[in-house]
Amino acid sequence: MNNKVIIFDTTLRDGEQSPGASLNVYEKIEIARQMEKLRVDVIEAGFPVSSPAQFEAVQRISGEINAVIAGLARTKEIDIKSAYDALREAKRFRIHTFLCTSDIHILGKFADERYGKSLEEKRRTILKMACDSVAYAKTFTDDVEFSAEDAGRTDIGYLSEVIEAAIEAGATTVNIPDTTGYNFPKEFGAKIAELRKRVKNIDKAVISVHCHDDLGLAVANSLSGVENGARQVECTLNGIGERAGNASLEEVVMALKVRKDICDYYTDINTEEIFNTSRMVSSFTGMIVQPNKAIVGENAFAHESGIHQDGVLKNRQTYEIMTPASVGVNKTKIILGRHSGRHGLKSRLHELGYKFTEEELPAIYDKFLELADKKKEVFDDDLRVLMGDQILAAKNERYSLEYLHVMVGTNSIPTATVKIKVGEDCVQESATGDGSVDACFNAIERALNIKSNLESYNVRSVTSGRQAMGEVIVRIRSNEKSFTGRRISTDVIEASAKAFIQALNQQQAYLELIENDEVLKDSLSDVSAV
Ligand code: KIV
Ligand code: ZN
Repeated sequence: MNNKVIIFDTTLRDGEQSPGASLNVYEKIEIARQMEKLRVDVIEAGFPVSSPAQFEAVQRISGEINAVIAGLARTKEIDIKSAYDALREAKRFRIHTFLCTSDIHILGKFADERYGKSLEEKRRTILKMACDSVAYAKTFTDDVEFSAEDAGRTDIGYLSEVIEAAIEAGATTVNIPDTTGYNFPKEFGAKIAELRKRVKNIDKAVISVHCHDDLGLAVANSLSGVENGARQVECTLNGIGERAGNASLEEVVMALKVRKDICDYYTDINTEEIFNTSRMVSSFTGMIVQPNKAIVGENAFAHESGIHQDGVLKNRQTYEIMTPASVGVNKTKIILGRHSGRHGLKSRLHELGYKFTEEELPAIYDKFLELADKKKEVFDDDLRVLMGDQILAAKNERYSLEYLHVMVGTNSIPTATVKIKVGEDCVQESATGDGSVDACFNAIERALNIKSNLESYNVRSVTSGRQAMGEVIVRIRSNEKSFTGRRISTDVIEASAKAFIQALNQQQAYLELIENDEVLKDSLSDVSAV
């Protein structure tokens, strides 16, 4: 058996399902480009039928990335066709269809009698749906993956039957997800070994594992899967994902690399790009990496106690099992400032993984100078934030902030005046509020004549020092759907106003799209969380 482990990254699909994480099309493309540098084998770019934004992201990524691009689809024909439509421009693509197989999911999600009266009948229906969907996906591509959702809690006899039938129908990868992160490593590994024994045609497909981290065992379970015959691991950068997240790519890859002595498998990942990719994902999703996170945390290579420091100074291997450079930490430590030239900025940004054209450089450089005027030293994290904001601002939005004036004081009523560009016109309004942010939001709503439902507002400092950059994330809700705006500035009031306007832009674009598309409206009405 081949010892290569295929790395299937689902940061842009399962990872983006993390509560609070939301990426726009531009950010997804940038991350996909960086994943290409990381040499990920398969990039799951999204769930095309679930929203126009997801469709567009999968389509745009397919248009420019060389790795295999996967799109998720339920077993419905509309999902599979939509995945194909989004993926068709890719050099290599995969349709990934899934259906639940555990009794608890079947009885809960397929309770309706049209799927069968007894559990046995429902199981037959599910098996047929799985085969039909694989066969339908096969009419578009040879590369079809089937996932048995909640395989971790599925009876091994039934799971073997479904997997065998899916392979018979044409699946070339069969994925065994521990959807609820319930399994123990020994148990999960035994499940993979048992499938290899029971499923007659198992050699015709690659076995994949997809583990969630509800008990903190996602990486251990994935590795146990590999030791028992899986040759694809589905994972995410920084381990982000539904609930407690997915197996973390950097941990799986480095475990295989560092412990090759006992676990003789390899991946094609360029490990020196791990740190840059992790930081890019963290800054775009707004999901902070915990300092003690393995491999990519701030403290992963920090030695605090005297005894450790002394040991490391004498021989790094006393307390380090891998070098920081092997995962791309501190390869070069360049600090830029207001005197840095365009060339220095451009080459540092390229090293950090950002791609842009010569025409885009002057605008980026101007932003950099603006920042360098406020901050004496511009660190890598500042540049990541600046690029994140540049990407957000690059989009041609319907509404954009032209002017903002806020008055606050200890004994006065906070008042804000805004001028907003709407297409070719400008609208201006003032309003008061409970604080400066509330006054801003009220003025924006009044100017645009929109009433919104604010779901959450978060502000945090994303770089260090007195002139630190503040990031504001605003979430509004409409029609059972959330829309997020995220902006960064050294002035958090300005960032708040821009983030709010960005969320309103998304809401308006979405409402207009579904208003004009009956099929889409119908398909969106029952896309359940995966
Ligand atoms: O966790 C899960 O079961 C999934 C499937 C869609 C693969 O994300
Ligand atoms: Zn999952």
